[in-house]
Amino acid sequence: MSKQMVIVGAGTMGSMIAAALQKAGAAGQLTMMRRETSRQSVDWPSVEVVWLAVKPQDIKPAVTDLPKLTTQLVISVMAGVSTRTLQQLTGAERIIRCMPNTPTTIGKGMTVWCATSATTQADKQWFTRILEQFSKLMEVDSDDWVDKATAVSASGPAYVFAFAEALTAAARDLGFSEEQARVLVTQTCVGATALIEQASVPVAELRQQVTSKGGTTAAALNALELSGFDTMWKKAIQAAYDKSKTLSR
Ligand SMILES: NC(=O)c1ccc[n+]([C@@H]2O[C@H](COP(=O)([O-])OP(=O)(O)OC[C@H]3O[C@@H](n4cnc5c(N)ncnc54)[C@H](OP(=O)(O)O)[C@@H]3O)[C@@H](O)[C@H]2O)c1
Repeated sequence: MSKQMVIVGAGTMGSMIAAALQKAGAAGQLTMMRRETSRQSVDWPSVEVVWLAVKPQDIKPAVTDLPKLTTQLVISVMAGVSTRTLQQLTGAERIIRCMPNTPTTIGKGMTVWCATSATTQADKQWFTRILEQFSKLMEVDSDDWVDKATAVSASGPAYVFAFAEALTAAARDLGFSEEQARVLVTQTCVGATALIEQASVPVAELRQQVTSKGGTTAAALNALELSGFDTMWKKAIQAAYDKSKTLSR
């Protein structure tokens, strides 16, 4: 299971991957390649796996001085960089493009992934055996589905955080202290998401269970609907998907 690996990019995602690999006991020899790390300091023929975890706009300079990665498995976590572009930039044939999210750091992640046809069953098994320790996995058959998942599950934690921020601000406006608002919102989010996970009914039914006709929740949901809540979400997710496709070009 343990392999010789390089992670290009030591930011949020690069560090998360390194921690996950170490926890899984999968990092034989792990090199974190930062901007200033000499590409010549690595014994490339012995490297088996290269993870790419820089921002999409940084990928070209990040891989320029690397040898062609024809014998390595390349795994990218970058948004909007297609497997075709990765092939052109790195020379690799065996490529897994995956899209994790930040809850992966606490073992509650969601990762969507696709692989090129040259990627072997052994590559895929190795990859899934590691990632499934930290994340649910969904294999898809094209880059387009990864771009769509980027808009939903990779960006998704930010939507939940934005909602929590807005609810906290609204609670503060009602007069609760910052700490009281934090506790009210945190436990509400924790409880509601646990219910979604455990319930055997659709999420719409859970919402209905909280919404008595003519009651307080109905008043709030009605105000949200009048403010264009559903349309706003569709636009937001479409904007993220469009951005992902633009980055891929
Ligand atoms: N954050 C998320 O929730 C998330 C989720 C899924 C996928 N992703 C994807 O993961 C990738 C990384 O995102 P991130 O949030 O980890 O970004 P980040 O925290 O900014 O990390 C990117 C790292 O890449 C480094 N870097 C830039 N140019 C480099 C080069 N030439 N050689 C080596 N390292 C270089 C940066 O160093 P400097 O600080 O010196 O610039 C930085 O440490 C992105 O493509 C993003 O689309 C992120």
